[in-house]
Amino acid sequence: MPFDLVIANGTVATAADVFKADIGIAGGRIAQIGGTMEGAGRRIDASGRYVLPGGIDSHVHIAQASGPGIVMADGFDSATRAAAFGGNTTVMPFCLQERGTSLAAAFRDYRALADGASHTDLGFHLIVTDPTPQVLGQELPALIAEGHRSVKVFMTYEAMRMDDAAILATMDVARRHGAKVMVHCENEDVIAFLSERAAEAGDVAPRAHATTRPVAAEREATHRALTLAEVVDLPIVIVHVSNGAAIDEIARARARGLDITAETCPQYLVLQADDLSRDNWEGAKYVCSPPPRDAAEQEACWRGLRSGLFDLFSSDHCPFRYDDVQGKRNPAGLRSFRHIPNGIPGIETRLPILFSEGVMKGRIDLPRFVALTATNHARTYGMYPRKGTIAIGADADIAIWNPEIRKTIRHADLHDAADYTPYEGMEVNGWPETVVLRGTPVVEDGRLVADAAGREVLRHG
Ligand code: URP
Ligand code: ZN
Ligand code: ZN
Repeated sequence: MPFDLVIANGTVATAADVFKADIGIAGGRIAQIGGTMEGAGRRIDASGRYVLPGGIDSHVHIAQASGPGIVMADGFDSATRAAAFGGNTTVMPFCLQERGTSLAAAFRDYRALADGASHTDLGFHLIVTDPTPQVLGQELPALIAEGHRSVKVFMTYEAMRMDDAAILATMDVARRHGAKVMVHCENEDVIAFLSERAAEAGDVAPRAHATTRPVAAEREATHRALTLAEVVDLPIVIVHVSNGAAIDEIARARARGLDITAETCPQYLVLQADDLSRDNWEGAKYVCSPPPRDAAEQEACWRGLRSGLFDLFSSDHCPFRYDDVQGKRNPAGLRSFRHIPNGIPGIETRLPILFSEGVMKGRIDLPRFVALTATNHARTYGMYPRKGTIAIGADADIAIWNPEIRKTIRHADLHDAADYTPYEGMEVNGWPETVVLRGTPVVEDGRLVADAAGREVLRHG
């Protein structure tokens, strides 16, 4: 069989196995694994390299409306370029319905931003903030039927939060039409109460973001989200879990037989609440929700990654520039932590951090890395087996990793449009050298080598 591309001599890993084999690619798909491969248009020698499924980052925020005067740093071009350099071939951003607006119109406008601009494939999640009869009765079912089968709801953020009744109604529509619901679990009333108290005490620096969003607020909301899902009988995803108490809630719900997917992120492994205390308002660089915790909670998250409690490891990339009046140092944000936009960049560093801290340090093995960063995302969000694995017939989405590369993470070397990385100065071992999207190399020799050819992946069933 003539191949367009052969990746030769590498060590291949899937979520189940690690083995030596050549991979033959034809028509953008994996056509052969192992055996003799003659007649390739091109051969890449992967000696001494790991050949892994391209990463799927199923939790990223790109060009999302973020409140008056605040602008997210990345559009689709810069975010997906950075994603590709970090070993990803598919990302899943969120289309936000702002209150008082139509979800259908928001989706049409949001998808247009990605047209011709994406360097990775895309799957769109929907964020519902205003579940009107029009949205729940018509717009959401129509979008789900089109193949956008995941909906995020928020229990926090004044402009986005929904009460339990609204969440139940949204979950019910998702269940009837075959979508998953992703839940941001933090108790907004607790946070508002503590924030008010902090403001009265003059405690307005970035560190107060962490103290006003305690573990208890996340634990309670996690329990409540699980309860609502149990009542509706709906599989849900608990996103960006930061601590052991929330993990225990998930384990208890699973023991009751609930179908729960759990996600954590790099910030809960390698950042801490103390980072928010950095001088000169630099703590603002670490403001995200839930906030990073402490060493004990980091260890709880590592245990969850090792044990299989966590299914997904995502970036929650949510980039705001630091030194910018439309970003972290906006005028109101300089007066109080309550106005510092929530979120940190991390789309390019997600995989190298887990590879280095997890695989290279022996905390997780390579199949678990693949499961946490690609295969389980495809399974959870209806892209498997087309995406997220190395198998005959799958899209040839591949990242070739060199475990010998040692790098110090510097924002100057990254490709997003923020002006900092919260991981500045961190040493990592291993980096993806070559990234192939549907059979076409996208990143090679430290350069972007293809046009923006990302496509939308619709999800049916
Ligand atoms: O602080 C964060 N995580 N911002 C992104 C929005 C969200 O809640 O996922
Ligand atoms: Zn969230
Ligand atoms: Zn998020």
